[in-house]
Amino acid sequence: MQTIAISSFKGGTAKTSTALHIGAALAKFHKKKVLLIDFDAQANLTTGLGFDPDENDSMAAVLQGNKTLKEVIKTTNVPRLDLIPADTWLERVEVTGNLAADRYSHERLRDIIKTADYDFVIVDTPPSLCWLTESALIAAHHTLVCATPEFYSIKGLERLSQFVDSLSQRHPLNVLGVLLSFWNVRGKNNSAFLEVIDRTFPKKLLKTKVRRDIAISEAAIFGKPLFDTTPSSRAAEDYLDIVKELLKRL
Ligand SMILES: Nc1ncnc2c1ncn2[C@@H]1O[C@H](COP(=O)(O)OP(=O)(O)OP(=O)(O)O)[C@@H](O)[C@H]1O
Ligand SMILES: [Mg+2]
Repeated sequence: MQTIAISSFKGGTAKTSTALHIGAALAKFHKKKVLLIDFDAQANLTTGLGFDPDENDSMAAVLQGNKTLKEVIKTTNVPRLDLIPADTWLERVEVTGNLAADRYSHERLRDIIKTADYDFVIVDTPPSLCWLTESALIAAHHTLVCATPEFYSIKGLERLSQFVDSLSQRHPLNVLGVLLSFWNVRGKNNSAFLEVIDRTFPKKLLKTKVRRDIAISEAAIFGKPLFDTTPSSRAAEDYLDIVKELLKRL
């Protein structure tokens, strides 16, 4: 089993869309058993797969010891793709109940995931370096870093890189790749962005980029991955290529 945390410490870098589509592609086209964990109280991954975040238990209940992992897992419409939804409870889970007094609370997610029986566990993280994000990175073997071709997004990668380096001394964590979304093939600063990424995460940039495509937000309305709504869209093609690239690296 391989655990991948989708990270960026920033808002709107397509983390959730990436978690959903990589998970769905691995399950649907590569016949892998995949568990998606929505680890962000915004619950966009949950909604994006057609679930109501306020109707289901989240990982918070498992972290608190109130539910078992199996009890909070939902099967989705995509064969072999399961989901642990998010709820608003996640927001302050680390200062709630028995986690508040646990000095090693950061390691709970890792210990819980170890018991899961999947080919891949993919964790979607919130847009900041909070307890949830740090726990996800500690639980993960790999992180897939998301960025957009914008100055603040690319600059923000330096902070993420430093964090991953310091974390790796205690918990081995491999940067699986850096994924650029909202890509515009004709963007005039493209080469400058690519250079900074290569300096910050040498050789990690994925060749495939996800082009800007309205089909991604439209699919979310239907609560399904692009492969089930607009399989011939640009973004569906891009995500399929990304998964092929990732599988070569794994
Ligand atoms: N390649 C793309 N082209 C156009 N729209 C996109 C693309 N990728 C994602 N989106 C849309 O942009 C918005 C933000 O994407 P997403 O929710 O995946 O980002 P995020 O990094 O998870 O955001 P947050 O930091 O808030 O969790 C969503 O409405 C999504 O549908
Ligand atoms: Mg998100």
